[in-house]
Amino acid sequence: MTALKLTNLSKSFGQTEVLRDINLTVEEGEFVVFVGPSGCGKSTLLRVIAGLEDATSGTVEIAGKVVTRVPPAKRGIAMVFQSYALYPHLTVEGNMGLSLKQEGQPKAEISARIAKAAAMLSLDTYLARRPAELSGGQRQRVAIGRAIVREPDLFLFDEPLSNLDAALRMNTRIEIANLHRSLKASMVYVTHDQTEAMTLADKIVVFRDGRVEQIGSPMELYNSPANQFVAGFLGAPSMNFVPANMLGGPKSQIIGIRPEHLRLAETGPLSGTVQHVERLGGDTNLLIQIGQPDLLTVRLFGQHDMAVDTAVHVDFDKSESFVLDAEGQRLENTPPE
Ligand SMILES: Nc1ncnc2c1ncn2[C@@H]1O[C@H](COP(=O)(O)OP(=O)(O)O)[C@@H](O)[C@H]1O
Ligand SMILES: [Mg+2]
Repeated sequence: MTALKLTNLSKSFGQTEVLRDINLTVEEGEFVVFVGPSGCGKSTLLRVIAGLEDATSGTVEIAGKVVTRVPPAKRGIAMVFQSYALYPHLTVEGNMGLSLKQEGQPKAEISARIAKAAAMLSLDTYLARRPAELSGGQRQRVAIGRAIVREPDLFLFDEPLSNLDAALRMNTRIEIANLHRSLKASMVYVTHDQTEAMTLADKIVVFRDGRVEQIGSPMELYNSPANQFVAGFLGAPSMNFVPANMLGGPKSQIIGIRPEHLRLAETGPLSGTVQHVERLGGDTNLLIQIGQPDLLTVRLFGQHDMAVDTAVHVDFDKSESFVLDAEGQRLENTPPE
């Protein structure tokens, strides 16, 4: 069964169109990440799916039922917000069980579901604490636990890791991936962070300005981006975009080359001077001025001593580059010789 189906979905606030004609599906058990820059409409879309906002037009189908006019509590969804939204006066157990209590579930059932979720999230020993007595990571786990106990048809996550520091973000990312594996649940996860999208998703939906730009698996999008936006958004450091005329091509085209596909060489089609060196330990990123204002990022494996202002030549395999037209649409023809 399809866990979620959006058909011709649009949403406006007054005259402002925030979501434009969105069509997509989430299959049962699938982990789908909605990714795009801040302000592109991700939270609004999640709120429309949850029923917290009405769609202006189009339909929302969850677990095979059209729910466009169904109130949030009856949609079979559970949502996890960036802000946790825990009740400060309730314990961990009280927060996790609240919605089940409101539904009138029997006490024994509530306790059993809380115990199971708490064990999954390593919260067993914190059940009697209040949110103020927990770390940020633990609070976020309580918010996730509160969603798990509801046993929803569909989980909705809105940037759940944004308030955590980098190390905790990575740990929690792995926990969420493990959780998805053990629950086998259908999940929609919203983020502006391309690393989260690449590492968590079965399927990524890239958004820009309220529209779907491209849908595919992480490697499909990375290896076959449909346009300059998707090509530049996924991957860090970002793909380089070189005016094709610098490589003997037509002025109207752009050549996209990923930093890891560039290499320093004795001679090469591109040359310039080292403007900045980023030493990351495992990798070294060279920023090379190849023209005004054109900068090229070359990603080298391992550690390299390279002085600023050194003159270098850069080469790449044409088979690993992308040709884009002036509007940024990917062209299927081979790059210029
Ligand atoms: N209640 C609202 N009224 C008017 N505009 C809104 C409202 N909520 C969101 N927006 C606008 O919709 C756009 C998308 O916002 P949002 O969905 O929060 O983006 P994202 O989550 O991708 O950062 C923004 O331009 C925002 O200002
Ligand atoms: Mg948002």
